[in-house]
Amino acid sequence: MTRGTFISFEGIDGAGKSTHIARVAQLFREAGRAVVLTREPGGTPLSEKLREMVLHEPMDALTEALLMFAARREHLVQVIEPALARGDAVLCDRFTDATFAYQGGGRGFDWQVLAQLERMVQGLPGGALRQPELTVWFDLDPHIAAQRLASARVPDKFESQPADFFAAVRSGYAQRQAEMPSRFARIDAAQSLEAVAAQVSRVVTDWLNRKAT
Ligand code: TYD
Repeated sequence: MTRGTFISFEGIDGAGKSTHIARVAQLFREAGRAVVLTREPGGTPLSEKLREMVLHEPMDALTEALLMFAARREHLVQVIEPALARGDAVLCDRFTDATFAYQGGGRGFDWQVLAQLERMVQGLPGGALRQPELTVWFDLDPHIAAQRLASARVPDKFESQPADFFAAVRSGYAQRQAEMPSRFARIDAAQSLEAVAAQVSRVVTDWLNRKAT
C-alpha cells in the first residue's frame, strides 16, 4: 500500500504554477509532513541531463516523447516511489499529463502511443498505474500566458512556441481532465496571485480532508 501523498501541478507555460507549488509545500510542512519537491522532466541527475536535451535541442516527436518517459521512469524509480513508500508528500511540478498535453496536444503526437508508454513506465505490480492522486491544473488563456512570459526570461524550446501551440496544449489538458476527472482540480489562473493562491489552498485542503475520511 502507498503511504505517501502524490500531487502534481500542471498548466501551459506562463500559467504561474511555480510560486503556488512552494506555498503548498509550506502548507504540508506546517502540518508536520516531510515534503519532496520535485519536477519533470528532471528530479534525478540523469533526468536533469535529459531535461537539458529535450528543452533545448530540436528532435523528432517520438524521440521527444521517449525522452520524457525515460526521464520519468528514472524519476519514479529513484525518487517518487521511495518517497511514497516512506509516507512523504511528493509535490511534482508537471508529470505525465504534461506529455499528453505538450507532445499529444501541442505536437499532435499519437495519444494511444503515449498511453502505451504510460502503461510501460508507470505500471505497478497488479496492473494499476502510478498516477498523482491530485492534479492541480492552472488553466489560463494562452494569450494571457504569452503576455506574462514576454516579460520573463529567455524562452526555451517550448516557451518560444506560438499561441496556437499553447491552445492545443490547453486542449490536451482538458482532454486528460475529461478522461480522469476525479483526480483533476482546475484552477482559474487568470485571477490575481492572491486569488489563485486561495483557490489552490482550498483545493488541496478539501482534498486532504476527503482523503482522511
Ligand atoms: P517548466 O515546467 O515550465 O519549467 P520552468 O518553469 O523551469 O520553465 O518547463 C518544462 C517544459 O517542458 C514545459 O515547456 C513543458 C515541457 N514538457 C513537455 O513538453 N512534456 C513533458 O512531459 C513535461 C514533463 C514537460
